Amino acid sequence: MPQLHKMAEQAIGNARDGQELYAIKTDYLGKNGKITEIMKQIGQMEPEKRKDFGAQLNQVKNDLEAKIQARQAILDNLALNAKLQGEYVDLTLPTGEMGFGSLHPVGQTIEEIITIFGQMGFQYADGPQIETDWYNFTALNIPPSHPARQMQDTFYVDKNDSDGNPFVLRTHTSPVQIRGSLSMGKNGTEPVRIIAPGRTYRSDSDITHTPMFHQVEGIVIEKNIHFGHLKGCLQDFCADYFEVSGVPLRFRPSYFPFTEPSAEVDIGCSRKDGNLRIGAGDSWLEILGSGMVHPKVLQNAGYDPNEWQGFAFGMGIERIAMLKYGIPDLRDFFHGDSRWLNHYGFKPWQNPCLLRSLVA
Ligand code: DAH
Repeated sequence: MPQLHKMAEQAIGNARDGQELYAIKTDYLGKNGKITEIMKQIGQMEPEKRKDFGAQLNQVKNDLEAKIQARQAILDNLALNAKLQGEYVDLTLPTGEMGFGSLHPVGQTIEEIITIFGQMGFQYADGPQIETDWYNFTALNIPPSHPARQMQDTFYVDKNDSDGNPFVLRTHTSPVQIRGSLSMGKNGTEPVRIIAPGRTYRSDSDITHTPMFHQVEGIVIEKNIHFGHLKGCLQDFCADYFEVSGVPLRFRPSYFPFTEPSAEVDIGCSRKDGNLRIGAGDSWLEILGSGMVHPKVLQNAGYDPNEWQGFAFGMGIERIAMLKYGIPDLRDFFHGDSRWLNHYGFKPWQNPCLLRSLVA
């Protein structure tokens, strides 16, 4: 028996993986295993011998079981280390300089937007790109016969939603006002600050329009929110994003079905010698739409409009990327030309830095 015990111990210590270990376990402790076979013979032994031998055998069995378990833990650890080693990425290797690719300006701009609004306490939300008629239009106070439906050249999907309307490719990120508020506002009981960047689609293609583009939606719902908060929030965002403190903003009265009152926002700029510069100047450039959330929209987002108010805004991401990084043509964003990407792309790990806004 000591011989058998030793052999088993050796085999366990030499097992190279879980499969081998399992085979050894079966070989000794399985239904027809070597130890099990001996146990079966105990019954035929003389009673005094049986007692001692049984105890001894039990000890061996327990010892082997413990050793198998310990070996299994070692093997699991080795396997995990090997897996991690295989997935190892050397972050110190050079990347962009070698022409191995770059971050697209849209991705970089989205990161910057999320970083800035994140610092103001906004939370990220997203919604589906294939959207229902309800979320894209009706819930935003754009009922079926509303002329605003014609303002957006919608792509329809050849399949109907549960209301019997065709699905649409979302024409704006505004449906996330409803989706995000419903889920994060916990049925109109809690305030929300949501930032929702993403892809949007319109059947439109010319020098300043592409059928797919990106927007970012923002919505804040609280009990005492007012237009002043909207102004302050956008002012801070523009100062941080464009890295120009005190950048002048102009709020122009406008119309959107989902906000009342509504305003379009222009940013001050100068266009001296054909160079566009953001900041003080004698010119204005439209950058976004905004307003106080319409009571019907608040209701559809689960809130009681007699108690809650909110502001919302929507911005074109390519637009503000073009303004900040001096990119002249929108259509180039989606041509996938590696020369353009090398020129306007960003190095990986070049994360947006908030140092400026932290010290400002
Ligand atoms: N959804 C609008 C568009 O695509 C932009 C917009 C305007 C969003 C006003 C808003 C807003 O949240 O308040 O043209």
